[in-house]
Amino acid sequence: MHVFTTVSELQGYLQAARFNNQSVGLVATMGALHRGHISLIEAALSENEVVVCSIFVNPTQFNNPEDLVKYPRSEQEDLALLRKAGCQVAFVPLVSEMYPTPSILQMDFGPIAQVMEGKSRPGHFNGVGVVVSKLLHMIMPDRAYFGQKDLQQVAIVEQLIRDLSFSAQLVVCPTLREESGLAMSSRNKRLSDEELKLAALIYQKLAEAKNQLLSGISIPQVIASIEAYFNQIPEFRLDYFEIVDRETLQRVEGLAEGQSVALCIAIYLGDVRLIDNLVID
Ligand code: PAJ
Repeated sequence: MHVFTTVSELQGYLQAARFNNQSVGLVATMGALHRGHISLIEAALSENEVVVCSIFVNPTQFNNPEDLVKYPRSEQEDLALLRKAGCQVAFVPLVSEMYPTPSILQMDFGPIAQVMEGKSRPGHFNGVGVVVSKLLHMIMPDRAYFGQKDLQQVAIVEQLIRDLSFSAQLVVCPTLREESGLAMSSRNKRLSDEELKLAALIYQKLAEAKNQLLSGISIPQVIASIEAYFNQIPEFRLDYFEIVDRETLQRVEGLAEGQSVALCIAIYLGDVRLIDNLVID
């Protein structure tokens, strides 16, 4: 596997690949890789001749400086996992390579960024938008792979690709879960064994809420029961639980024929913030 730290080395390699008519897939990550990330690499490998995995803990998308400092970093393990998966290129730039000068551009994604993660983490999607744009410009992939785990990020990237006419095709990959149902996340590494057990409740309650909705229980009732449930467990602090339209991410009043709806949750367990979602098609 080639490991590049500069844009010019990376582009030199990709130019040659393109000259040989090889298609390029991009998997953008912040490292601390787990099987969820690797499933994106595998999907990319199945559809492209060259797969680039970027590992970059992007400072501009962290609205909370402490979260940035505490974000897990494990570069050597990450590179070993990528090699094992058969990834051809790892792009591991320093902050100074990605941001030679501080980024001034602000990206406003409108209503889809004003809810949920956008509301709780001001500036987060501006940071995501800028860094994903940079990666798409630098790499010019044929396809870019993103996980449904970050459903709102998928909507942001969809909008970005459309609005800025990137030629990459967005491929959305399903959420990989632990056996307990807990969505895999780099942040899970910060949970104690006790907390990991509690964390499994997040998916269980989401699945239960989905079933309740499908059995005809009203949205306000489902929301109230989730809120009441997590409020009575002191280790948890619910940030939001929302039932939204899958495309617009705006709240819905009820289930409608032909509309995809997403149940989205963000919750603190101790000081670790976890997110998850389930979609009803
Ligand atoms: P990161 O959290 O490292 O996630 C990288 C990619 O892996 C994202 O597309 C995310 O949705 C996907 N992913 C994470 N957990 C997953 C799981 N359990 N199953 C399937 N896919 C999963 O998302 C980011 O990094 C950053 O915001 C980034 C896009 C790299 C921009 O900095």
